[in-house]
Amino acid sequence: MPTVPLTPAALQALRAATPGTRTTVHFNHAGASLPSAATLDAIQAHLRREAEQGPMEAGVAARALTDKARSLAARLLNAQPDEIALTGGNSPGWGAAFAALGPWRDGDRILVGRHEWGGNLAAMRLATRGADVSIETIPSDDSGCVDPEALQTMLDARVRLIALTWLPANGGLINPAAAIGRVARQAGVPYFVDAAQAVGQLPVDVAEVGCDVLSGAGRKALRGPRGTGLLYVRRDFLPRLTPAFVDTYSAPLDADGQPRLRGDAARFESAEASLALRCGQANALQEALDIGLDAIRAQIDATAGALRTELAAIAGIDVLDQGRERSGLVSFNLAGQEASAVQRTLAAQGIVIGSNGVPYTPLDMNARGLAQIARASVSYLTSADDIDRLLQALRTLARQGR
Ligand SMILES: Cc1ncc(COP(=O)(O)O)c(C=O)c1O
Repeated sequence: MPTVPLTPAALQALRAATPGTRTTVHFNHAGASLPSAATLDAIQAHLRREAEQGPMEAGVAARALTDKARSLAARLLNAQPDEIALTGGNSPGWGAAFAALGPWRDGDRILVGRHEWGGNLAAMRLATRGADVSIETIPSDDSGCVDPEALQTMLDARVRLIALTWLPANGGLINPAAAIGRVARQAGVPYFVDAAQAVGQLPVDVAEVGCDVLSGAGRKALRGPRGTGLLYVRRDFLPRLTPAFVDTYSAPLDADGQPRLRGDAARFESAEASLALRCGQANALQEALDIGLDAIRAQIDATAGALRTELAAIAGIDVLDQGRERSGLVSFNLAGQEASAVQRTLAAQGIVIGSNGVPYTPLDMNARGLAQIARASVSYLTSADDIDRLLQALRTLARQGR
């Protein structure tokens, strides 16, 4: 368990450098977090350069910034820059890698954790529609975590993919990604990790996780701009992946008119992208690395733990988080009230939380008989005052419901 949270002075300075902390009580960091003023400036500065120099010309001048974002992303994941693609979000990266894995044949099996992101399941079901492919759920253990031992017993020569959503979108559980990775490695089965909620929140070491592909979002714990993400593809796995879509950047034509697919993970990028957002992404990555992922993890763990304890003490509130180790996402329900109604009531008081229905994590929601959950997700930016405001509002709501 991490032991080095931020000092109060460091937390204060980080909040002061984040305009949103002055204007909202934000408990939707799992949806999208609040960028720093410096990240905002980096985006605006590039838009200004585009307006003044011409967008293509400014893009050439800003090439180093894209390289910087890639190198920083590699450092964050303990990967090499040529194993990183800069993407437009988590699903664009995960989906592009998945689409490159086919074709699917009758008899193929895909094994997924119970917390798999609904968008990934949709991609699997669509891509395998024409073939007799089974998409099977790996059993979870008593704590709700995907069980590596159960996975071991499911393996045979027909398993073509193991997919895990590391940190679910509907609760605080942290899946044992590295233990699942050891089983996948030993069996030689491709292993995809959806780390949308993990990147920027936990120290992530792709070598330790043992994954072939790992995707992350820029706007969540990393506090980058919306419309950014990153994709890791293990260097030796890359030849297995032929992108479903290429362009003049990812597969330029050679003198004979033949496409030359890039030899690095940037084969999943395209010529056209928002360089302004990449400038913001680079800044956010630098900030996360400067703070340190151990400190970020420790701070989030302490804050989310305290919030869970207080919530559990409110009559009428059920804290729903499973697992042994937990993330900054605190899931709960308030007796007699729909999660979406709780979200609306709090929003009217300037307090932002999330609420999820079944489609984001259908396998887990259905397995647990849940139709909705309310989601208060914290960041290292979350202050004691923020927590007090949320708890007071929920205590009042719970009393009214009695
Ligand atoms: C676990 C998980 N996977 C995937 C996604 C989708 O990410 P994006 O919207 O960046 O494609 C989310 C978004 O909340 C998520 O929580």
